[in-house]
Amino acid sequence: MQRETFDTVILGAGAAGMMCAIHAAARGGRVLVVDHAKAPGEKIRISGGGRCNFTNIGTSAKNFISDNPHFSKSALGRYTQHDFIALVEKHGIAWHEKTLGQLFCDTSAKQIISMLLDEMNQVGCELCLGTMLESIERDVSGFTVTLGGDRAAIIRCRHFVVACGGKSIPKMGATGLGYQIAEKFALAITETRPALVPLTFGEDVLAGFREMAGVAANARVSCGKTAFEEALLFTHRGLSGPAILQISSYWRERQPIRIAFLPGDNVIASLASAKRENGRRAISTVLSDILPKRLAAHLAETHGWTGPIGEASDRKLTAIAATLQNWEVFPIGSEGYRTAEVTLGGVDTDGLISRTMEAKTVDGLYFIGEVADVTGWLGGYNFQWAWSSGWAAGTAI
Ligand code: FDA
Repeated sequence: MQRETFDTVILGAGAAGMMCAIHAAARGGRVLVVDHAKAPGEKIRISGGGRCNFTNIGTSAKNFISDNPHFSKSALGRYTQHDFIALVEKHGIAWHEKTLGQLFCDTSAKQIISMLLDEMNQVGCELCLGTMLESIERDVSGFTVTLGGDRAAIIRCRHFVVACGGKSIPKMGATGLGYQIAEKFALAITETRPALVPLTFGEDVLAGFREMAGVAANARVSCGKTAFEEALLFTHRGLSGPAILQISSYWRERQPIRIAFLPGDNVIASLASAKRENGRRAISTVLSDILPKRLAAHLAETHGWTGPIGEASDRKLTAIAATLQNWEVFPIGSEGYRTAEVTLGGVDTDGLISRTMEAKTVDGLYFIGEVADVTGWLGGYNFQWAWSSGWAAGTAI
């Protein structure tokens, strides 16, 4: 087998790996990026409905979950959302803010992939697709990496960067190999689980709202002390939509989630004023003024809110408002890694240097992006973590 030497080998041509490659090669090193997929940046391509929510204008460490909430501060603070926006603008990619600070390409997520590949070409990175890691060994002077597949070779390198993401969406090439590499080098892994994922319900709960599949409503969804106010979507298997995806990262088995429709509204006051203005209107009709029609009709039917609102007592109006704004349900699980946008948990940040992403106990070994125990909220935060951590490692190599 062919033997070669590189300064840096990066495993994974995703968001973090490509960013790291650009900055490592810009410093003059010989950089090889290896990926078993047939194309680089596949998750970038499908992200944000094909338009890539590439960052969030309000990104800060508060938007991330990790056993060490301070770990992400260094990388996020030194390569910020504004740095990435400047890169996007340098490449003439038009973008817009959709909602809640989420920035998307105007045209296509493929522009972000082309931008990263252009930058990699400019600094002379080598990219090998269809290539697998067969083994990695370390000795005093560096790593011996055996590659199989399209670019089979034995490679010596001083730096090895693990950028192969988490376990979410195996169909798109996720393997979890990064965790095995961490374990091989005696680094700890925090518990991993699917996150930013739809929640599923038992038949008893589902029977109560299955016919609502496809209905979306704004809601405040909470679990313990954490709450998100965004859209909620009823599905055939349970609940989805941004508010549910967000709370899924905090929910644990056997815990309830609480759902408040019409968050922030004074529902009792709205119902009382509807009663005063026209008492002959049916309760379900009044509710359909403030909720999606199908949801209003369904709630009225299942709770027996029949008859004109004029005949409803104040106690009943209070009970209706309480039902709308304090619905407690127990999910039984989630859709799992099949649809999860990210993997929660990962390589324990206690074992990594936050400024460089290098393992504290293994010189030259780095973990960047989703494989590390830093998980962002929905809204462009996960890509920003990939850019920032990739930059931190790349500029340290
Ligand atoms: P990433 O998964 O991007 O890259 C890992 C690379 O390693 C892949 O190219 C893979 O093929 C390769 N690899 C894996 N195992 C390997 C092995 N054994 N050998 C060789 N190569 C291997 N985030 C966000 O901020 N905004 C958004 O709009 C979205 N949208 C979105 C939609 C969907 C459907 C998903 C699934 C995810 C998102 N995300 C997102 C999350 C975002 O995609 C994710 O956080 C980043 O891609 C993580 O970047 P990484 O580079 O760490 O891993």
